[in-house]
Amino acid sequence: MQLVFVGPPGVGKGTQSEWLSSFLAIPHLSTGDMLRASVEQKTDIGKSAQGFIQDGKLVPDDIVIEIVDSRLDEEDCRNGFLLDGFPRTLEQAEMLDQRLASRGMPLSLVLELTADESQLLQRLVDRGRDDDSPEVVRKRFQIYRNQTKPLLGYYDEKNILKSIDGSGTREEVREHIRLAVRQQGLEA
Ligand code: AP5
Ligand code: MG
Repeated sequence: MQLVFVGPPGVGKGTQSEWLSSFLAIPHLSTGDMLRASVEQKTDIGKSAQGFIQDGKLVPDDIVIEIVDSRLDEEDCRNGFLLDGFPRTLEQAEMLDQRLASRGMPLSLVLELTADESQLLQRLVDRGRDDDSPEVVRKRFQIYRNQTKPLLGYYDEKNILKSIDGSGTREEVREHIRLAVRQQGLEA
């Protein structure tokens, strides 16, 4: 099964992916984590991506698509995967659909997590990652609204979108997700 988490910065995509990927026995693919690892390793991709991440801007589509596409070729993705933070633009979504169609592995479910920006700003400032200053977080929210939210309509039309309230405790959100996954008939 092929799943995607969509949602604003700080809503819990990474947190919930950790248990959901083990619950469903599929790998967790976070483009944010992959890009930060490339920055750390000072690879060419990392050097190109670093400035965008620091400023809270999206890394260009071609770079991100390349990373995801080569990751999907790895052995552990043969029974599916959970994407976190990708796709984030319509162009990425269309490219993903094409690549998955050619593999005969269409998306099974897109889970949207929702919460108020004021609550999320507080979570991120408390976490304190390099790109979690209030100024950069506001930029990331704005980009989410303008560039990523249009994906919700795109997936809703395909009847694979489920929206989940991400504002409760980690455990409450986990139960909402568990129910949504079960309703879709997706259990390991
Ligand atoms: P990315 O790493 O994906 O960051 P993000 O989407 O902004 O989201 P976060 O990882 O900050 O939040 P999350 O939803 O995972 O929440 P988390 O579980 O960590 O992307 C970073 C950058 O990389 C982008 O800005 C861009 O530059 C680049 N990039 C990545 N993907 C890209 C793409 N596809 N295209 C182009 N560029 C891309 O939780 C946040 C905090 O809240 C944690 O401390 C957590 O412990 C806490 N928390 C979680 N759930 C709860 C809860 N229920 N209650 C209380 N606290 C909670
Ligand atoms: Mg994350």
